[in-house]
Amino acid sequence: MIFTVAIDGPAAAGKGTIARTLAAQFGFRHLDTGLIYRAVGAKVAEGADPVEAAITLQPADMARDDLRSLQAGEGASRVAVMPEVRAALVEFQRRFARVDGGAVLDGRDIGTVICPEAEVKLFVTASAEVRAHRRWLEVGGDAADVLAQVIERDRRDAERATAPMVAAADALLIDTTELSIAAAVERAARAVRTRMDEGRA
Ligand code: DC
Repeated sequence: MIFTVAIDGPAAAGKGTIARTLAAQFGFRHLDTGLIYRAVGAKVAEGADPVEAAITLQPADMARDDLRSLQAGEGASRVAVMPEVRAALVEFQRRFARVDGGAVLDGRDIGTVICPEAEVKLFVTASAEVRAHRRWLEVGGDAADVLAQVIERDRRDAERATAPMVAAADALLIDTTELSIAAAVERAARAVRTRMDEGRA
């Protein structure tokens, strides 16, 4: 069965949790595409050429344990504006999306560029203040700095020319500003079940 769930949205909106939970619930494979860009950004921080880093990326590069920091997210967002870097990473993501047995991918351009034919598209968002607060609880530091970084990263991801972060026209919008994660997951799971039932009908 080919069935793709495409989840897009800004950092700390809850898309990772929703993606992991859906994958476990429906037995789909899961790809956190942000990790790919974080791994490329980390190699660039060590002096690699961005396009070379993207072309030669290995699964082990995505397993390193320093990719979750704010700096790694910032580095990812910077390499993600480069069209040649994005182009080098498209095929792998497309193949993953259409793997037999179902797949959930979360990122910024999954429903618009990587897999416009996805059976379910979700755009998960929340106010910048709420997302910055969630990040701050994880990483600590100066709360105003964390908010400024969240806003700057949103701006860069949404305003870049190639594959900007934007909700697909047919995406279901889930705003987690005032929604619990359990309620958000339930909404997402309902969308998947509904689409699967339509496919069987
Ligand atoms: O989801 P994340 O915070 O791990 O993503 C890190 C950065 O990678 C994000 O700011 C922009 C980039 N990214 C992207 O451009 N396209 C994706 N599909 C996923 C992430």
